[in-house]
Amino acid sequence: MASDDALSGQTAVVVGGSSGIGLATARALLAKGVKVTIVGRSSERLTNAADVLGSGVSTAPVDCADEAAVAAFFEGIPTLDHLVVSLAGGAALGPFTETPVQGVRETFDGKFWPYLIAMHHGAKRLSDHGTMTLVTGASAIAAVPTATALGAVNGALEGVIKTLSVELAPRRVNAVSPGLTDTEAWSRIPYDIREGMYAQSAADTPVGRIGQPEDVADAVLACIQNGFLTGLVLPCDGGKRLV
Ligand SMILES: NC(=O)c1ccc[n+]([C@@H]2O[C@H](COP(=O)([O-])OP(=O)(O)OC[C@H]3O[C@@H](n4cnc5c(N)ncnc54)[C@H](OP(=O)(O)O)[C@@H]3O)[C@@H](O)[C@H]2O)c1
Repeated sequence: MASDDALSGQTAVVVGGSSGIGLATARALLAKGVKVTIVGRSSERLTNAADVLGSGVSTAPVDCADEAAVAAFFEGIPTLDHLVVSLAGGAALGPFTETPVQGVRETFDGKFWPYLIAMHHGAKRLSDHGTMTLVTGASAIAAVPTATALGAVNGALEGVIKTLSVELAPRRVNAVSPGLTDTEAWSRIPYDIREGMYAQSAADTPVGRIGQPEDVADAVLACIQNGFLTGLVLPCDGGKRLV
């Protein structure tokens, strides 16, 4: 395992760093002395997040669905040590036969393509000891009824991890696969329904609770800090996939 200050002075881009898992990851990296740039579409959300994170953080308003904008952003970065991709686009949720195929396409547009675009252009800037860590999701490795579209997207993303980790070596490429995690992504669901969903999921999870963004950020940090981890999809779900 790397020494405690091994990351100090290195650079990281956290795509989706203005909220949820990305924000917690940015905070964890900053605590290790990393110079972090958080990326998101909304300048206002980025500014609010930077205010919370304090010194050492930069912001970049970029829509990762816009390949030209992403290419220009990464071209402006001379070298990059760590790329974390944790953006959340819209997802079609519902029973498979009642979900229009167009909804599945839109789920790929919201997550898969923005991830791939960020990875493609970010990988060109990664230093020799650099890392890339994707936040995927439990729907790729466990049955999550109503989440077929997200399962397809997360499975497609996890499908590139092994090959990329060999192609880009000695750079390391991993994914962290969270279970249900309490983030702003769920804020559009009415409070009572959301709390009921959280309670049910906690009861069904071996560790007896749902995830917090810091749990997933710790798993991302493990992928970044452990120089012998590559080509890995690390579940961070309190054991929910096992039951
Ligand atoms: N929360 C969970 O229960 C859970 C479970 C499993 C997997 N995951 C995965 O974890 C990842 C992060 O989710 P989260 O819960 O942390 O979501 P979140 O709190 O909603 O944060 C999403 C972040 O992505 C940014 N974003 C969205 N679209 C973008 C785009 N096209 N370009 C650049 N930035 C974009 C958002 O900022 P703007 O809106 O300003 O762009 C925001 O910073 C997602 O891939 C999600 O599928 C989450």
